[in-house]
Amino acid sequence: MRLASALTGTVLASALLLSAVPAALAAPADDLPAVESSELSDASSLLALINPTTQLSPVDYTPTNLVSVGGTGLTLRPEAADAVEDLIADARAAGHSIKLLSAYRSYSRQAALFNQYQSKYGTAYAERISARPGTSEHQLGLAADLGYTSSQAELKEAFGQTPAGIWIAEHANDYGLIIRYPQGKEEITGYKYEPWHVRYIGKEHAKALAESGAETYEEYVKMLSESLKAPKAEASAVAEEEEAPKEAEKDSQKDAKEAGHGVVKEDDLLVLRFLPPYRDWGFGFTEK
Ligand code: DAL
Ligand code: ZN
Repeated sequence: MRLASALTGTVLASALLLSAVPAALAAPADDLPAVESSELSDASSLLALINPTTQLSPVDYTPTNLVSVGGTGLTLRPEAADAVEDLIADARAAGHSIKLLSAYRSYSRQAALFNQYQSKYGTAYAERISARPGTSEHQLGLAADLGYTSSQAELKEAFGQTPAGIWIAEHANDYGLIIRYPQGKEEITGYKYEPWHVRYIGKEHAKALAESGAETYEEYVKMLSESLKAPKAEASAVAEEEEAPKEAEKDSQKDAKEAGHGVVKEDDLLVLRFLPPYRDWGFGFTEK
């Protein structure tokens, strides 16, 4: 019964979303950076899409290359750490006294946080503000929460209207970061507006996303996966010549997965499905 209603929810939410997708989202494939499909699903990839309907495998996946962010003791992957350090330095130079509040979080840390929210607010609301363990971008080492050193707006929607929040929204893309949970997009992202949460995807993709008309990473990833299905004519010719190296690459990706480097799973429909605002996984959490 519960599964049936969940499936109905999926279909309805997807249909609504797809009918609401603006024409601008039909960006020509040629305008998007080329990606391999594995880049969207390998947890070790800087482009990995993770959201409430995806789950890391292994569920306690830990990035192998975490580094401290600017001596804070908090860690991220090197590319994300550099981007966040640069953004904070430039924001401070522009007069905004922000700092890093949270970065990489382990499976167990995320579980503790989710459980805290669940006890305080109940399951339904906890799921709108916190990822369950094994489904957080913080566990990927690619997300950072930013805020003032002390402010009533810390980790609240009001942060988006503060000078620092506005500066971050205007400049994040220049550092390869995106506001991952924008206002009014909960039906797509699965989470309430989080103006403090930035996700690293790299400068090329952050720029392409901004130019594509996509307002969420889910929409952008969908466009990227559509472009995979419609390879460019030139690219196909090159691909034929490079078939042997590509096969070798696939083998090495397979080896990496077998070695436990992580893959994001969502019923093999990882990037093609927009989210409904529900979760229904049995992680052993107790429903309230
Ligand atoms: N607050 C975000 C969704 C997280 O817990 O990863
Ligand atoms: Zn966050």
